[in-house]
Amino acid sequence: RPTRVQYKFVLLGESAVGKSSIVTRLTRNEFNQYNESTIGAAFVTKDVALDDSSTAVLRIWDTAGQERYKSLAPMYYRNAEGAVVVYDITQEESFNKAKAWIGELQRQNETRTMIALVGNKTDLADKRTVSYEEGARYAGEVNALFFETSAQSGQNVSELFEQLAKKIPRP
Ligand code: GTP
Ligand code: MG
Repeated sequence: RPTRVQYKFVLLGESAVGKSSIVTRLTRNEFNQYNESTIGAAFVTKDVALDDSSTAVLRIWDTAGQERYKSLAPMYYRNAEGAVVVYDITQEESFNKAKAWIGELQRQNETRTMIALVGNKTDLADKRTVSYEEGARYAGEVNALFFETSAQSGQNVSELFEQLAKKIPRP
């Protein structure tokens, strides 16, 4: 008989890497070139099929990447089943920031949050400074899933949430 589970998901990462754009692509299948920087955090839900008879309701917190909001983050990642840690493949510094978020998650988290590391903006491949291999290698070291996405084209966006949801041990 059909089952529904609810999972708390959080997006983390430096400002302007495209967290909100990924969420907008996922939930509305839209992209805005002039997206506004998030204030505090935004909340959305999305249903994802786990198999023929079960659905995960993702309760997604899209956090603000600007430094001034950093102290709020623990509220959003606490007890999260899934964390999507995003960097911009054209900004090396945002990759370092993603590594720092993963370090913080692994230090602070009492529950075992499944992590996906995500290199966004693959449509800007000509400006790439972080290679696919670098991202994949680091994800492997910290036991995270790895995806490269484009919120602009939609590449890998729904796959990322579906695969992360499927990785979570069922309650
Ligand atoms: P904060 O809310 O400040 O933490 O930023 P954010 O991570 O939510 O970034 P946001 O989604 O607002 O995107 C920042 C800028 O990058 C916007 O101008 C987006 O249009 C652009 N952007 C996001 N994703 C992509 C992408 O995949 N490709 C390209 N070319 N631009 C993108
Ligand atoms: Mg945002």
